[in-house]
Amino acid sequence: METRHSFQCLVAICFHSVIILSITEAKQCGNGFYRVSNRTCIDDNECGDTQSISNARCGANTECHNTFGSFYCTCRKGYITQAGNANFTTMTNCHDINECETNPCGLNATCTNKFGGFECTCDDGLVSTTGERTFTDKTKTQCRDINECSDQPDACGHNASCENTRGSFNCTCHRGFVATNGRHTFNNKTATQCKDDNECLDAVKVCGPHSSCNNTVGSFSCTCDEGFVSANGEPSYTSKSETHCQDLASVVPKTSSLEDINLFADRSFASLSKIQNRNSTEYHMLISNFLELMEKYTIQAARNLQHKELKHFTTSDLEVVIQAIRNNTIPKDGRVKLATAKNSMVIGWNTVAGKESFDVAAAALISYKQLDSIMGASLSDDGSKETELDLISEVVTAAVTNTDTESLDEPVNLTFENNKYHNGTVKCVYWDSLANAWSVRGCKVDSTNRTYTMCSCTHLSSFAVLMALHKIKESDSYKLHVITTVGITLSLICLFVSILTFILCRSIKSVRTTIHTHLCVSLFLAELLFLIGISRTANKTGCALIAGFLHYLFLACFAWMLLEGVQLYLMVVKVFNAKSLRSKYMLLFGYGFPLVVVGIAAVAYSRGYGTDKYCWLDLNSGFVWAFLAPVCIIILVNAGFFIITVWRLVDKFSSLNPDMNELKKIRAFTFTAIAQLCLLGCTWVFGMLHFQEGTIAMAYIFTIVNSLQGAFIFILHCLFNKQVRDEYIKFFISVCHMKKASKYSEFSTSSTQGLKSTRETGM
Ligand SMILES: *[C@@H]1O[C@H](CO)[C@@H](O)[C@H](O)[C@H]1NC(C)=O
Ligand SMILES: *[C@@H]1O[C@H](CO)[C@@H](O)[C@H](O)[C@H]1NC(C)=O
Ligand SMILES: *[C@@H]1O[C@H](CO)[C@@H](O)[C@H](O)[C@H]1NC(C)=O
Ligand SMILES: *[C@@H]1O[C@H](CO)[C@@H](O)[C@H](O)[C@H]1NC(C)=O
Ligand SMILES: *[C@@H]1O[C@H](CO)[C@@H](O)[C@H](O)[C@H]1NC(C)=O
Ligand SMILES: *[C@@H]1O[C@H](CO)[C@@H](O)[C@H](O)[C@H]1NC(C)=O
Ligand SMILES: *[C@@H]1O[C@H](CO)[C@@H](O)[C@H](O)[C@H]1NC(C)=O
Ligand SMILES: *[C@@H]1O[C@H](CO)[C@@H](O)[C@H](O)[C@H]1NC(C)=O
Ligand SMILES: *[C@@H]1O[C@H](CO)[C@@H](O)[C@H](O)[C@H]1NC(C)=O
Ligand SMILES: *[C@@H]1O[C@H](CO)[C@@H](O)[C@H](O)[C@H]1NC(C)=O
Ligand SMILES: *[C@@H]1O[C@H](CO)[C@@H](O)[C@H](O)[C@H]1NC(C)=O
Ligand SMILES: *[C@@H]1O[C@H](CO)[C@@H](O)[C@H](O)[C@H]1NC(C)=O
Repeated sequence: METRHSFQCLVAICFHSVIILSITEAKQCGNGFYRVSNRTCIDDNECGDTQSISNARCGANTECHNTFGSFYCTCRKGYITQAGNANFTTMTNCHDINECETNPCGLNATCTNKFGGFECTCDDGLVSTTGERTFTDKTKTQCRDINECSDQPDACGHNASCENTRGSFNCTCHRGFVATNGRHTFNNKTATQCKDDNECLDAVKVCGPHSSCNNTVGSFSCTCDEGFVSANGEPSYTSKSETHCQDLASVVPKTSSLEDINLFADRSFASLSKIQNRNSTEYHMLISNFLELMEKYTIQAARNLQHKELKHFTTSDLEVVIQAIRNNTIPKDGRVKLATAKNSMVIGWNTVAGKESFDVAAAALISYKQLDSIMGASLSDDGSKETELDLISEVVTAAVTNTDTESLDEPVNLTFENNKYHNGTVKCVYWDSLANAWSVRGCKVDSTNRTYTMCSCTHLSSFAVLMALHKIKESDSYKLHVITTVGITLSLICLFVSILTFILCRSIKSVRTTIHTHLCVSLFLAELLFLIGISRTANKTGCALIAGFLHYLFLACFAWMLLEGVQLYLMVVKVFNAKSLRSKYMLLFGYGFPLVVVGIAAVAYSRGYGTDKYCWLDLNSGFVWAFLAPVCIIILVNAGFFIITVWRLVDKFSSLNPDMNELKKIRAFTFTAIAQLCLLGCTWVFGMLHFQEGTIAMAYIFTIVNSLQGAFIFILHCLFNKQVRDEYIKFFISVCHMKKASKYSEFSTSSTQGLKSTRETGM
């Protein structure tokens, strides 16, 4: 402006000089000039130097422009005259122009008219591209929206989604979350967050009845209560409109197709495995119900098969094999074998079909791969206290179309693969759906080894193999071990002393003593071997050898006992105090007879020697009778001899002139022999029960009696025998100092008398 002004001045001055020069001689100045001197006119500035003069000349909001010799007025920028003319000279007021009418700001912006101009501002929530608050040139500046959602990825915080809106944004919580402000949307994440919605607050409303609701972060799930199962078969659901919880007892397969049966089994397993109280009656009833339904529907499925068609169906839970025959035609071989991976069944077609003629007869074998884990051993009805039962096979169901399967003419044979190596007694059991428990009625073990058990049953149902685990506790087995070791060691000492006594005491040399000696030697060796070898099962051959020797030695004991009976019989019944057995024959019998028995047994069934648990005869196959049978016979024969002997003795006591001394001696012999027989006999009765039943009480009795045999024999044959006692006393006297000798003899006389009196009365 300054320069422009000065430039105007300069121009004006030049003009003046020109004018001054040109009109020097002018007498009068023209319009728009005024005379400076008689010779000089200069231009008149009509617009004046100030705005107020200018405004006074032209009007408001005008600009006055001086020209050489004249002037004109224009409106100021942004103003216009009423008439719209640009140049004027008369006094005219100029008005403001409203530029906003022409929409100079572009989209999404607001135009504000100003005196002499306008300004653009962006609409709410929008910003200008240049960042200025206002603008006028829409070609340079536009308005745009800020997208908070993409500009700040975390605009809404966790578990919320962001939606950009014009000028703002809306945050909405994800499904399963609710905003802390209680509203549907928010946009200030410091003030409001999304937190987990606990859908389970009203569980019944969310999940329906008989179910429980489990809230998780951002979600929830419904599961059916114990004993209930969701109708669609899924383990859990989130919408009660999808499904509901149904009483397990009322669930049945949809159809009798194997797929539906499997679906049903799946659901039942899932539900049964969740039930905590496995030994409740309800649980057992559910099991019964399940097994019955499986049987019924599988047989129905089998009815659709063609003649002799065999169908095999396997899933992760079960394996089904079915076969049918049609048109009353029984195949020639008469039997059908149905086999799953681990189990098999052999059944006669006559059993399958029943007595009536038939259109279709079918047999099915279902192996449940997981049922054994949920049909544990607690389901046994015998409630045995000391044995715990363990299911060691898969549970199988054998089903046939014949409805009369309670008592089969020909038993059905089932083979089970043992899931666990068994070391106890196995039982073949069936599921008694009336008692809702395992039962052994009508089922027996045909044979069993480590890996297989063969069962034979006279009725049809669901079967399995149970193993009786001998519940001998750690402490018990340790105590038993100590008792055995201590007892047998004591026994061995006693037997050793007895043997020495019999050999060294001249005064008691007789046939009976010889027999006792051999008995004690046999028993000594047997017990020694028992102590060392009974549980050396690691080496099969070694174990079998040990079992064989034990068999031989224990049999020898009994053989010698029999000889003792015979000898007594000869003494009393035949020729009183006359000839006795020849020692040649005695030796032959005492050591030969056991050898014969063991030889025959070993040749007939050598596998029977040595079991997994003991180096003894196999109990399961009944091989142990190779020992028990001779023993029983000997006991019976001996018992016979003793009865005759006692009877004869009584006779002789009452005779007119008895040799009292001799008779009393024989009487003592007899009772000793009987006591000995009882002792050894009883040991093996208890032993048998122990090996078979394995109860703790039996274990203790057998261990104690067995390990004290030697001590008893020592007491019976040595301490109760006056001659032997006298020998002992002599022996002690010779060993001890002479000074103390009298003391011993005093003691011994009194004790001898005491013992004598008991013997007179008791024996
Ligand atoms: C100018 O002219 C007037 C009359 O025309 C006269 O009176 C006056 O003296 C003149 N002045 C000069 C300086 O010439
Ligand atoms: C107004 O007058 C000026 C000076 O005479 C001239 O330059 C201009 O063109 C005129 N404007 C109009 C719109 O007549
Ligand atoms: C701007 O306005 C136009 C028309 O009114 C509209 O379609 C557009 O979405 C707006 N843009 C923004 C960023 O608001
Ligand atoms: C909710 O937010 C937490 C924290 O970031 C995150 O760990 C979780 O996965 C989110 N949950 C869902 C369902 O998006
Ligand atoms: C955004 O939230 C407001 C209320 O806060 C609501 O009126 C509007 O409809 C929401 N817009 C969208 C697109 O959801
Ligand atoms: C968000 O909320 C916090 C606390 O309530 C407040 O301090 C802040 O000013 C709010 N921010 C906006 C953008 O409203
Ligand atoms: C709830 O569900 C979670 C995840 O699925 C699981 O870990 C938890 O054990 C369930 N709680 C109950 C009580 O079922
Ligand atoms: C069920 O078995 C549990 C342990 O398995 C036992 O504590 C409970 O007494 C048994 N209940 C019945 C009714 O036998
Ligand atoms: C059924 O058996 C009878 C005779 O046993 C035979 O005549 C008939 O054709 C058979 N029917 C079918 C469908 O096999
Ligand atoms: C099952 O085995 C027994 C002998 O172990 C036999 O008598 C019976 O016939 C067999 N049953 C079948 C169906 O093979
Ligand atoms: C039998 O085997 C089981 C493991 O399979 C074991 O726990 C148990 O002690 C064994 N019993 C005997 C008597 O060896
Ligand atoms: C067990 O018995 C089965 C069937 O009788 C037989 O196949 C298998 O070889 C036997 N296994 C052993 C180790 O004796």
